[in-house]
Amino acid sequence: MSSIYWYDQQFIPAEAVRISPQDRGYYFGDGVYEVYRVYNGRLFEPGLHFARLARSAAGIKLALPFGEAELQRALEELVLRNEVSEGTVYLQITRGAAPRNHLFPADARPVVMAYCNEMPRPAAAMEAGIRTITLEDTRWLHCDYKTLNLLANVLAKQTAAERGAGDAILHRGGTVTESSASNVMIVKDGRILTHPADNLILHGVTRAVALRLARAEGIPAEERAFTVDELLAADEAFVTGTTVEVTPIISVDDRPIGSGVPGPITRRLQMAFARAIGLDR
Ligand code: PDD
Repeated sequence: MSSIYWYDQQFIPAEAVRISPQDRGYYFGDGVYEVYRVYNGRLFEPGLHFARLARSAAGIKLALPFGEAELQRALEELVLRNEVSEGTVYLQITRGAAPRNHLFPADARPVVMAYCNEMPRPAAAMEAGIRTITLEDTRWLHCDYKTLNLLANVLAKQTAAERGAGDAILHRGGTVTESSASNVMIVKDGRILTHPADNLILHGVTRAVALRLARAEGIPAEERAFTVDELLAADEAFVTGTTVEVTPIISVDDRPIGSGVPGPITRRLQMAFARAIGLDR
């Protein structure tokens, strides 16, 4: 069965989607996106995703061509039509198609596209943890907007892979921000630390859920920036994200974090997360 896309307010087969070569997403990365998790056939935290999408769109002066309820109905139907139980929904909105000109076009209509794929939870990485490298964060100063401009993230992730690592942890002059496609948290003396939700990081939905779950578990969690040195000296570290959930970091630049295996607080948080999505583990 070919997958069904939500495109221009309609449900159509993937092959029928036509994107103009003049789309500003293609020329300028001029658009915003969201990646949702689907667990048990249901969208995970759609309200948090919509709030972030609205914020990203406002940040790039793009008027969303739908409201929250309409979007949720459409994405729920997309999941249903594609018969996805455990997977992701990718949604992007570009400013539309117009002859190339940096100025916003007067009459372009936003182009909305969404699809839904089956994608199992990353069981192996969540169990064993990942090796990481550190890289200077070379992105712009609005990493809080989830825009299509991901070249710095792409290059960071690719460099990590070329060095045999699962992800790159980014830092600005020694202060850790986040990773190429997830947020980063450390544990020191029983406390969780993570970068504040300011303009230097994406305000991750999984980050927010993880902080909520940690606090509900009685684990102190502080939103305060930490350095690469603090990361290297941490008892535990992990990343959070829609596709990675809570994945332990077992080494940074070939130096083990803690004892080099996933730590107890990371494990507790993984279990709390699994319960939150209605699974045993
Ligand atoms: N990435 N930071 C960055 C730079 C990200 O790209 C992402 C998500 C996150 C985690 O956010 P959330 O918990 O809301 O997924 C943090 C998505 C999955 C992606 O681009 O594929």
